[in-house]
Amino acid sequence: MSTHSHSDTLSANASTPPTILVIFGASGDLTARKLAPAIFNLCKDGLLPETCHLIGYGRTEMSDDSFKDYLKESLKSHSRRQIGEETWGRLSANLSFHAGPYDDLESFRKLEEKISAIEKQLGQNAQCLFYVSTPPGVFMSILENLGTSGLAKRHQGENTASKVIIEKPFGRDLASARELNEVINRRFREEQVFRIDHYLGKETVQSLLVQRFANSIFEPVWNRNYVSSVQITVSEDLGVGSRGGYYDRSGALRDMIQNHVMQLLALTAMEPPSSLDPEAIRDEKVKALKALKPISLDTDAPEIVRGVYAEGLVGGKRANGYLEEQGIPEDSTTETYTALRLSLDNWRWKGVPFYIRSGKRLAMKASEIVVQFSRPPAILFGQDQRFRVSPNLLVIRIQPNEGITLYLNSKTPGLETKLQPIKLAFGYETTFGSNTPEAYERLILDALNGDGTLFIRGDEAETSWGLLSPVLDFWDSQGKTGLETYSAGTWGPLAADKLLLTGGHEWLTGKEYV
Ligand code: BG6
Repeated sequence: MSTHSHSDTLSANASTPPTILVIFGASGDLTARKLAPAIFNLCKDGLLPETCHLIGYGRTEMSDDSFKDYLKESLKSHSRRQIGEETWGRLSANLSFHAGPYDDLESFRKLEEKISAIEKQLGQNAQCLFYVSTPPGVFMSILENLGTSGLAKRHQGENTASKVIIEKPFGRDLASARELNEVINRRFREEQVFRIDHYLGKETVQSLLVQRFANSIFEPVWNRNYVSSVQITVSEDLGVGSRGGYYDRSGALRDMIQNHVMQLLALTAMEPPSSLDPEAIRDEKVKALKALKPISLDTDAPEIVRGVYAEGLVGGKRANGYLEEQGIPEDSTTETYTALRLSLDNWRWKGVPFYIRSGKRLAMKASEIVVQFSRPPAILFGQDQRFRVSPNLLVIRIQPNEGITLYLNSKTPGLETKLQPIKLAFGYETTFGSNTPEAYERLILDALNGDGTLFIRGDEAETSWGLLSPVLDFWDSQGKTGLETYSAGTWGPLAADKLLLTGGHEWLTGKEYV
């Protein structure tokens, strides 16, 4: 991915102008779990601009000192490395909290005064990076107020122009995503905007393009002539936990498929970009998404499956069904599992099914892309059962146990000719060691440096919603009809297996296929 600029950015922080990072939703969960650890780890590695101020913006009244204590505690629990006193001291000297509602223009004006006062004290202009990490209900108010207060347009045209990072979810259907984009386009220019999909910040996801395009052996076979199917699984073993209130308004399709899984699909299916320029890469991703055929809603020949978990056994213990989870209404029709059969109407992929699935309370946590190649013609090792010719598989493991495995057929040693699949395996941890940066470190650093490669462009979000919104409308009209159940701790509803069987395939992630 933007590997060209990434290697540059790692040494370029000295030239990044003084920065004021404002986090909306500063007392929220994401700030504690992800943003604060990412910011402090960047500081530890010397990757933040020389001068960096952090302002937490939140609705709850909090003193600067309490905010500092809050962050310090969250670092203890959530940072991948210990943050020593030296790093803490460097950043905490410039930490403050700004309490105010998100729909109150006056509060944004006061924020602007605070920012101007910091600049005055520095004796130079600073770039502002606004991180919108609130519940989505207040995204619009924040963006509008950043516009009206003048914060969005500070130092326009200079290297200190404001930037805004917007957390997911980016809309809940096509109409709301368009509405958000409309406000953004009115208030900001696209190059100032960074829509988050934290999967793009994952090391293994960034590697995907390198693996595809920096090796010459894949490209010739990466098409309908050699690939018989592509599977993408993003499964979680956990349930919704304490996030029931949010999740029940979302569901698996909105929470995981529309963003994370579609991004993995776009990176797997896209054409080679003409350069590593962020727009060249994003253009190709959008093209791949646009090539996806509309999903059939015909229930006689299903292309979509949705399910919800019932009680089951997880790790030997009884796990609640979804309806028993905290904050879930008893008449909920929200899906915790979705599987889809997609196809792309383009030269490269015509006729190759892309099976995708995601769900909570499944048998294990695994994000994986499996490219299944066609079987060789049944001439030499075809007829006899004992040969067991398996299709070649390329398994790209996004997490955990990150790595790549290629399955080939080989002869077992001995006088008899017997075949057995073997694997050529690469593991990130074995080769590179552990402790790689977290996705949010990459993403915040890129946004600071204005590199949009690993962020979702407005048209990309709309294209993905455009494909999936009709499914959501259809499900709404169906209520519980067609909502399958699966036991917690299993691989999801049976209907999802049938979805593949009709094409002569089966889900491979989680199976012993060697
Ligand atoms: C988030 C979803 O975007 O991704 C969560 O809202 C999900 O429901 C999470 O658990 C998964 O992220 P990761 O990085 O753990 O795979």
